[in-house]
Amino acid sequence: MNEQIVILDFGSQYTQVIARRVRECQVYSTILRYNTPAAQIAALRPRGVILSGGPASVYAPDAPLPDPAVFELGVPMLGICYGVQLFGQFLGGQVQPGQKREYGKGTLTIKDRGCALFCALPDTLQVWNSHGDRLTKLPAGFAPVAATENSDYAAIEDRRRRFFGLQFHPEVAHTPRGREILANFVHGVCGCGRNWTMRSYADQAIAQIRAHVGGERVLLGLSGGVDSSVAAALLHRAVGEQLTCIFVNNGLLRAREAEVVQEVFGRHFRVKLLYEDASRLFLRRLKGVTDPERKRKIIGRTFIAVFQAATRRAGKARFLAQGTLYPDVIESVPIGGNPAALIKSHHNVGGLPRRMKFQLVEPLKCLFKDEVRQLGLELGLPNEIVYRQPFPGPGLAVRILGEVTPRRLEILRQADSIVLEEMKNSGWYYRIWQSFAVLLPVRSVGVMGDERTYDYTIAIRAVESQDGMTADWVRLPHELLEKLANRITNEVKGVNRVCLDLSSKPPATIEWE
Ligand code: XMP
Repeated sequence: MNEQIVILDFGSQYTQVIARRVRECQVYSTILRYNTPAAQIAALRPRGVILSGGPASVYAPDAPLPDPAVFELGVPMLGICYGVQLFGQFLGGQVQPGQKREYGKGTLTIKDRGCALFCALPDTLQVWNSHGDRLTKLPAGFAPVAATENSDYAAIEDRRRRFFGLQFHPEVAHTPRGREILANFVHGVCGCGRNWTMRSYADQAIAQIRAHVGGERVLLGLSGGVDSSVAAALLHRAVGEQLTCIFVNNGLLRAREAEVVQEVFGRHFRVKLLYEDASRLFLRRLKGVTDPERKRKIIGRTFIAVFQAATRRAGKARFLAQGTLYPDVIESVPIGGNPAALIKSHHNVGGLPRRMKFQLVEPLKCLFKDEVRQLGLELGLPNEIVYRQPFPGPGLAVRILGEVTPRRLEILRQADSIVLEEMKNSGWYYRIWQSFAVLLPVRSVGVMGDERTYDYTIAIRAVESQDGMTADWVRLPHELLEKLANRITNEVKGVNRVCLDLSSKPPATIEWE
């Protein structure tokens, strides 16, 4: 069992960030629901427990409260924000209710240099505070170790029990030295080593997959995206010939997409690859369809049918592998509109029906996206795949407004290739969340040589985002935009105008349909 830190989730929007920060210290972390029984936590033999923040007040009638026995586990504990109030509530302190939680910058002054959390850190630190309920009396055994302008109890410690409370958020970027505080907790206080690396994970996962799968066959739907590609590489390492990947060409892919997957997985890795070209079927079913929701439904349904038929052609297999990631399986605490709860159901990729009679293999389900990328590199996948921008399941269909036709697809593919190429050449591709072309089926008048043209418009969409839930448009340099516009209007027949999409999400979405 991995040496690990357990994080109890009380509904903070930052719970996953805490888990990632701990893992960046090369220590495994698991997020559990706030009311997980202490015995269940003890069974994991954690080296320490972190109580996340949360939007509630410990006094609220429906406040999320932990099993009181977690305070008796005998391991170090770190309470963050709401976690501090829990110490107050459960260990005999006093908490004064505030109106509502607010955040703000503050300066922390360390008063007790003996506190292990601030080892090797300066006497004052910039921190990101959270103001809500406040502790007015410390629980027995606790002493203040650092203060901010607003609070004498910004950091508290019970040195005997190794319990720590931080009224600010060490996990967020606005607390610049916060990573070191968390590192001091996991290494210095909890005594964790640096065992969680993607190299060690790969070895461990390969052994587990082999034990789980035995001599049976495994199928995997390969989309060419990061997650399914890394899952394919890992499974192939684990079970070799027993793995068959199914790649469905839905006719809505970008230029050379199908070729790249075949090159990398078929020829380079020598993975057994079943290439299912269903582009005609998809395009036939999409003929005349203009409503975005109907398009998505048709594509989703057709995909399932084609995939199921392909699994039958692939021959008998007991297992179906999926590239599910950790954020998809964390049971979010839906308190106070925690956006993490929404991320989970958003665009659930693939959506294969449960009635498919396979046992699931999900070898990435305890990894965050950045870890999946690391693992991909470890397994020898090229940068081109590991650092791909997200691409939606319904493909170019949601980037062609109105009806999807072969000619429109061809135009968009060419324009999109130019965007991709120039974004990569200029280095912008890897810095941002997504960049792509959208085809607007409105036609406008132009002039080329001596001739009048009446052609389509291409919109360029480039956005920054952390998780796709919100996004801002990217301020690309004018020279790059100029190059994109020139190349698209000169090289793509059927386009005489290029626009830039300046909308954020919300109110717009990233994709246009
Ligand atoms: P929107 O357009 O909703 O997109 O702002 C947010 C993120 O999700 C991607 N996206 C999808 N991914 N299937 C997917 O697998 C879909 O149907 C889908 N629709 C949007 C989009 O590219 C963006 O990164």
